[in-house]
Amino acid sequence: MGRFPDGFLWGGAISANQIEGAWDVDGKGVSVPDVCTAGSHKVDKRITPTLEPDTFYPSHEACDFYHRYREDIAMLAEMGFKALRLSIAWTRVFPTGEEAEPNELGLAFYDRVFDCCREHGIEPIVTLSHYEMPYALASKYNGWAGHELIACFERFCACVFERYRGKVRYWLTLNEMNTGIGRGGAVLNLSTVRGYEGPINGLPDNPAERFQALHHMLVAAARVTALAHERYPEYRIGCMSSFALMYPYTCDPDDAVLVQQRMRVANWFCSDVQVRGYYPSYMRRHFAEKGIEVAMEPDDAETLARGTVDFVTFSYYMSVCLSAHPEKFETTGGNFAFGAKNPYLKTSDWGWQVDPVGLRWSLNAIWDRYQKPVMLVENGLGAYDTVEEDGSIHDPYRIEYLRQHIEQMAEAVDDGVDLMGYTSWGPIDLVSASTGEFAKRYGFIYVDRHDDGTGTFERSRKDSFYWYQRVIETNGEDLGGEVSHA
Ligand code: BG6
Repeated sequence: MGRFPDGFLWGGAISANQIEGAWDVDGKGVSVPDVCTAGSHKVDKRITPTLEPDTFYPSHEACDFYHRYREDIAMLAEMGFKALRLSIAWTRVFPTGEEAEPNELGLAFYDRVFDCCREHGIEPIVTLSHYEMPYALASKYNGWAGHELIACFERFCACVFERYRGKVRYWLTLNEMNTGIGRGGAVLNLSTVRGYEGPINGLPDNPAERFQALHHMLVAAARVTALAHERYPEYRIGCMSSFALMYPYTCDPDDAVLVQQRMRVANWFCSDVQVRGYYPSYMRRHFAEKGIEVAMEPDDAETLARGTVDFVTFSYYMSVCLSAHPEKFETTGGNFAFGAKNPYLKTSDWGWQVDPVGLRWSLNAIWDRYQKPVMLVENGLGAYDTVEEDGSIHDPYRIEYLRQHIEQMAEAVDDGVDLMGYTSWGPIDLVSASTGEFAKRYGFIYVDRHDDGTGTFERSRKDSFYWYQRVIETNGEDLGGEVSHA
């Protein structure tokens, strides 16, 4: 097995709206997730622009990281974390997105968090916005569909770039931008929810609007990347995509071409623009076939060309199979990809197909395509955990999932991939983005918080906590024994 490079950034990833809570504390404004109810695997979460008095809104208290960050970061440090990927809540800094001055109390919170990371020798990797925006911007401009969002985002980023100089070096622009290509990304990612009330998957589908919104995101990301490069030469800026690997379901050439086409649009389009600085030619045909016209300003091309990233980051949870004849096959679920069921793979309790070898394939493909340093900034298993009577939590399923994926990362490093780091998703249990649940847990650290709104927020160490501690201590050499592939 391969060795991970010295200085490899082992750690975990969290996002503001899924962990912080304190949704209306110290001047914070209402964000889109703050108007989303809890849901489940079976029942969609809902958007309710007016808060319902007896309804549970999981982001409001989330896991109370806002008040417990010191304890949490100390526990991550105990595991040996070298890096923590976290995001800034836009609404803590600009509560409605358009204030003349930023909210000092919100800015001061992240000063404390970044200082605390540094005291523990943990490198913060900061996502500027992770699946959230001020609800005021969503309702006024229809989220990223509004051209105005570019200037709002740029002002927010300029403010935090300046503020956290010397504390943060690695920045990611927008989380999983490419999920906006699919219907499911409209609410979570693009916030195109003006006037909408109802289940998140009931938002009327509008592909043209989604690609317009994505264009605004791409221009905004390029503008802030260029700005960071001009003013802060020490900053390293990365893009972030969700990589859901797709296989042809059969060797029917039609399946192979279908996968090539879908992979381009779903997995590659956004990072192609962010790494290369221009729209890939394959999008012309996609837009023509779907009747989509994206409005572009005269200087957008130059902006995209100026704002290319320094490194490439992505999330990886699963793979799917595509068939040109889908009616023949059983399907499986996922955060934004759906496809035929792969008979070689097991699925998680949420229907996500577990595919560690696919991670090796993906890392190689990303590196081959871009020749830029790569970081895997999300990966993990959402699972039900049981607390034993003595308080212990045995999670061999999570250890097995992570061990198999880390083993394949090592293979990819041996293959020659320039891999900077690995931040597994949700090292502390947090709210699920797709379903709004607490029951779907990813953590090494258990949080006593439940879907009925009960719980003490107390933290405890799962078995995986000690396992990951050993992995980091040995720089990935000791993965805890033999790995059996699914
Ligand atoms: C990614 C998101 O899509 O997947 C995270 O960036 C999210 O915000 C993670 O939490 C896992 O998805 P879920 O739906 O299980 O929380």
